[in-house]
Amino acid sequence: MMQRRPIIGGNWKMNTNLETGMALASQVADAASTAKGCDVVIYPPFPALQAIDSVISSSPVTLGAQNFWPEDCGAFTGEVSCEMLTDLCVTSLLIGHSERRHVLHESDVLIAKKVDFAIRMDFQVVLCVGETLVQREAGNTLEIVLGQVQSGLESVKHDSMKNIVIAYEPVWAIGTGKTASAEDAQAVHSAIRQELASRYDDDVASSTRIQYGGSVKPDNAKELFACSDIDGALVGGAALSGESFAAIIEAAC
Ligand code: 13P
Repeated sequence: MMQRRPIIGGNWKMNTNLETGMALASQVADAASTAKGCDVVIYPPFPALQAIDSVISSSPVTLGAQNFWPEDCGAFTGEVSCEMLTDLCVTSLLIGHSERRHVLHESDVLIAKKVDFAIRMDFQVVLCVGETLVQREAGNTLEIVLGQVQSGLESVKHDSMKNIVIAYEPVWAIGTGKTASAEDAQAVHSAIRQELASRYDDDVASSTRIQYGGSVKPDNAKELFACSDIDGALVGGAALSGESFAAIIEAAC
């Protein structure tokens, strides 16, 4: 079986200021320097990206952005382009996060357009998918999640799949303290992998990394990472503490 390198993402959302963000980035850089067995990416708020790059640039931590607008430039007030992010040394982009789908009302069509644009601009794309509690309770988890995978990857060709990471984040587990059981998470991850096998081939299915996200903490990380189809985590709340994020990195590496 192919060994996939785990990837741990810290999605800071709309948290930290310049001072606390730089201090946190420095703790993450220390933790990542001693943990060589996984990739570590942080997604700070836009205004801190340049300062944070200077903190992590000589560490193994890579820099990601939480959002962007899929056009080269132009009259898009308030938006940020891929080229602007490249200037700031950003190499990874979150797309389809549940807060952007459900709070900012991003559609599947916009998400697919963003994936296509970001891949063409040579970014690593973390495509986030996940069902709401209502959808889970109605028994529609796989239909929703696999539908989001299909539409998000609509334009992505076989050769570009090496730049795609999928993050399964059940909406009901995000910021709620409720984690999917390792068994439930593994079942969805395995179904996503089967979807990749039928959409592409076994190579893509076995090499694509699928992170879990939703109330990942130091005390549940090891059990989740022990599942055969879970390749790390996308972490929100626990990524805001250097200590707990370091413990999650250590659990994965
Ligand atoms: P929490 O870890 O706070 O549940 O957030 C998960 C998340 O949304 C990461 O993108």
